[in-house]
Amino acid sequence: MRSKTDEGYIRLRPMTAADLSPISAIEQASFLTPWAEKDFIKALAQNQGTLCWVAEWIEEPHPPRVVANVIVWLILDEAHIGTLAVHPEYRGRSIARRLLAKVLLEATRLGATHALLEVRACNQDALHLYNKFGFAVVGVRKGYYQDAGEDALLMTLNPLVPEILAELVDNR
Ligand SMILES: CC(C)(COP(=O)(O)OP(=O)(O)OC[C@H]1O[C@@H](n2cnc3c(N)ncnc32)[C@H](O)[C@@H]1OP(=O)(O)O)[C@@H](O)C(=O)NCCC(=O)NCCS
Repeated sequence: MRSKTDEGYIRLRPMTAADLSPISAIEQASFLTPWAEKDFIKALAQNQGTLCWVAEWIEEPHPPRVVANVIVWLILDEAHIGTLAVHPEYRGRSIARRLLAKVLLEATRLGATHALLEVRACNQDALHLYNKFGFAVVGVRKGYYQDAGEDALLMTLNPLVPEILAELVDNR
């Protein structure tokens, strides 16, 4: 899948082991407690029940650059978002919106009817993104983030509607 912008293209595709190095850099730049490379290796090994996707930025004549990643666990009919991050230099270009919509759309094809995630209560950028999808806060996990002693908001999107997700993937 490709989408044209003034400067380049975004391509959304499944993650491979060759993506681990740029993904580690994105995680380090994005989180207080980033996922380790071994966490992604484990996710990739669970090829059934775990969706691992990346967004690549393509700007010829440069080689494609992995600029975002997402992991979603499928637990029965639930899509649980494990991690989602965009490289700081590439934020604000709708990459997270399109990547998350794409992976949730894939999840619906595999039987997911709703999605669940935890987010730091202070993470305004992520809350903007999730509000755009229609996620609703359904609970608080006290002290969930041990690194800063912060609470997590528990958010769900129920139901997942493939037509709406398809629009969020394609809508530039
Ligand atoms: C949260 C994060 C993934 C958003 O990535 P992004 O690619 O910049 O987000 P997008 O450009 O796709 O924004 C999606 C929507 O959210 C809204 N949004 C995102 N950031 C916003 C901001 N700073 N202010 C206002 N609205 C914002 C916009 O409405 C946007 O809609 P649009 O695509 O129609 O313009 C990114 O900031 C990030 O990697 N943060 C660090 C890691 C993180 O917090 N991950 C989430 C963990 S729960």
